[in-house]
Amino acid sequence: MWRILRPIRRRSHERSNRMAVSAYVSASWFLRILLVVLFCTIITLLSLVVTDSANFLTRSSKSGFPEESSMIEKSDPGGANEAEQRAFQADGGGGNKDTQYSNVFNKELAESEGEAVKKLPDCLIIGARKGGTRALITFLAMHPKIVTTGDEVQFFNNNESYAKGVEWYKDQMLPTKPDQILIEKSAEYFHVLYVPERVKAMDPNMKILLIIRDPFVRMVSDYSFLRRFAAANQVEGYDFPELKYSLEELAINNETGEINLQYGGLHRSKYYKFTKNWMSHFPREQIHIINGDRLASENPSIELRKVEDFLGIPNFLSEDMFYKDEIKGFYCITSTGCLGKEKGHKPPEFEPEFVEKVRSFLRPHNNLFYELVGEDYGWE
Ligand SMILES: *[C@@H]1O[C@H](CO)[C@@H](O)[C@H](O)[C@H]1NC(C)=O
Ligand SMILES: *[C@@H]1O[C@H](CO)[C@@H](O)[C@H](O)[C@H]1NC(C)=O
Repeated sequence: MWRILRPIRRRSHERSNRMAVSAYVSASWFLRILLVVLFCTIITLLSLVVTDSANFLTRSSKSGFPEESSMIEKSDPGGANEAEQRAFQADGGGGNKDTQYSNVFNKELAESEGEAVKKLPDCLIIGARKGGTRALITFLAMHPKIVTTGDEVQFFNNNESYAKGVEWYKDQMLPTKPDQILIEKSAEYFHVLYVPERVKAMDPNMKILLIIRDPFVRMVSDYSFLRRFAAANQVEGYDFPELKYSLEELAINNETGEINLQYGGLHRSKYYKFTKNWMSHFPREQIHIINGDRLASENPSIELRKVEDFLGIPNFLSEDMFYKDEIKGFYCITSTGCLGKEKGHKPPEFEPEFVEKVRSFLRPHNNLFYELVGEDYGWE
């Protein structure tokens, strides 16, 4: 309510300011006008109370959740910790291999004019982690007008890197020709709350790509990834809880049987909170959201075409550049094959009660997200 109120108050302030200038001439006029302004403010306030409670009613009946802000604040254990971030860094960013795909196509199909130089990115893939960021950047790297970074730079989310400054960041990039778009991907950017502010400070015109998938499926994938990573790597001074506990044990509180709000994997599936944070720094038109489930289940060229349009580059990534691998069950690149063999694990199975408990927890967050971005993703 305060958010709605503020601009209106400001407006009536401006009005009273303007009026105060003319009333400067006569003190009695000033008093009369003040009374009118006061009266108007009271009327506005009253009507706001009425509309807000009406909004409140529609919202709670729609999402089944009465109070957005308390819901968001109560369950905020923060984003990823450093060990987790390192795990995702080690997972690579769609790697140097992808740049080679890009180069192959560059030579054959595109004559980009001018000299290639290092510059800052025009576009960021910010996450969500395990949302399909790697597939996305790998596919985009085939476009002759796109240059991608190799590994995740993790500049804005990592204070140590950020302290090295923008010139250091630029130095991590590959040379880009004037008519090419440079994309950096770090899947942690989405979840770290101070990142959008930093990005905006560097470039308020930055184009943002966000890829998301069914938040329950994303959580499972997040868990499985960290579990595999923890089994294969030692990180000093950090015990991955994923290695010790099942997903059920982490997501449900042992004692109460309720959702464990402290579990980061679940937290990171609350897209509303993080998208809202990004949208408080960048206009909606500057953020393009990719349906990661579609990118995986349909021919990727469908979602990629929308990305090309968003980036303002010619449509190049076509249907015949992808084929569905019937054994793996997902789309691969016709010329170079499927992504690394780590990808495409069989999803684990869960008790229906567990699935329903987590899904019904996520549902109100999903509904708020649909409303925020103006699209219903239809997650269960
Ligand atoms: C990094 O910097 C931000 C903003 O100054 C701060 O809020 C955050 O706690 C820092 N993170 C770490 C891990 O030091
Ligand atoms: C759940 O409870 C068991 C037994 O009380 C305990 O050993 C285990 O550590 C708990 N799990 C978590 C995730 O706290």
